[in-house]
Amino acid sequence: MNELIKIKMSDSEIDAWPSFLQAAITEKNKFNLELTPEKKLCDLCDYLYFSEGKLNYHSVDLGTMCFDFEETYRYHQRQHYALSREPLARALGIKGETHPYVWDTTCGTGKDSLLIRYFGAKLLSFERHPAIFLLLNDALRRYPLNFEIVFADASRLMPSENSDDDRPDVIYYDPMYPEKTGSKKSALPRKEMRIFKEVVGEDFDSNEFLDWALKTAKSRVVVKRALSATPIKENPTASYAGKSTRYDMYKIF
Ligand SMILES: C[S@@+](CC[C@H](N)C(=O)[O-])C[C@H]1O[C@@H](n2cnc3c(N)ncnc32)[C@H](O)[C@@H]1O
Repeated sequence: MNELIKIKMSDSEIDAWPSFLQAAITEKNKFNLELTPEKKLCDLCDYLYFSEGKLNYHSVDLGTMCFDFEETYRYHQRQHYALSREPLARALGIKGETHPYVWDTTCGTGKDSLLIRYFGAKLLSFERHPAIFLLLNDALRRYPLNFEIVFADASRLMPSENSDDDRPDVIYYDPMYPEKTGSKKSALPRKEMRIFKEVVGEDFDSNEFLDWALKTAKSRVVVKRALSATPIKENPTASYAGKSTRYDMYKIF
């Protein structure tokens, strides 16, 4: 992960880029970014590019991907969810007047973050892949919702660094598994989901992550799994099944 990410540049464009993108360029080592003039971009490389007011990811093999929070959020608004029947809301403990503070530690396409926000939780999201983080930030810039996305590997935050007030009530975790473990419903149209998977690869650190999460959350940890997959850690306190996914909840006593 985190190989050099090229970002297409032409002199006239850069001043028109949004400030978060200009700031990322000034911190290009942190994001492992390389500004590459259009003429020097090879035909066989992937890169980010800013065009027509949005940041996109170009994959040589698969085409273009960007995230659209407005479309996803409006989709949620049309669903008339009843919290008491929604497996994710039940797993996170969101109901009535109870609005826990949730860390979505695997923001990915942002789809689950938007749903958690829509359900009414106070939310902080994390994404550790730099290109995905920049695409998420651009989506949030174009359609601001009341939460922040942090560029970090969440599990590197030491539990002791967070005072009780800062620690989340709930940690939500949805790592990338190999395709064969289940048929997860795509968060993106098919082509874009293939690009997302190509960019992110797999997350191999689920067991260590869970140890960290159980020391860090105040009340519960929720792990998203394919319906038929075995739990990452045995004996969840409860499991909430949807049509294609299951949420394993580990209560912290
Ligand atoms: C399967 S995707 C998550 C999909 C997401 N729930 C959604 O709605 O699109 C996993 C994402 O989490 C990120 N990730 C995995 N482990 C992480 C960690 N420890 N800290 C921050 N991001 C992480 C990966 O880079 C990837 O983008």
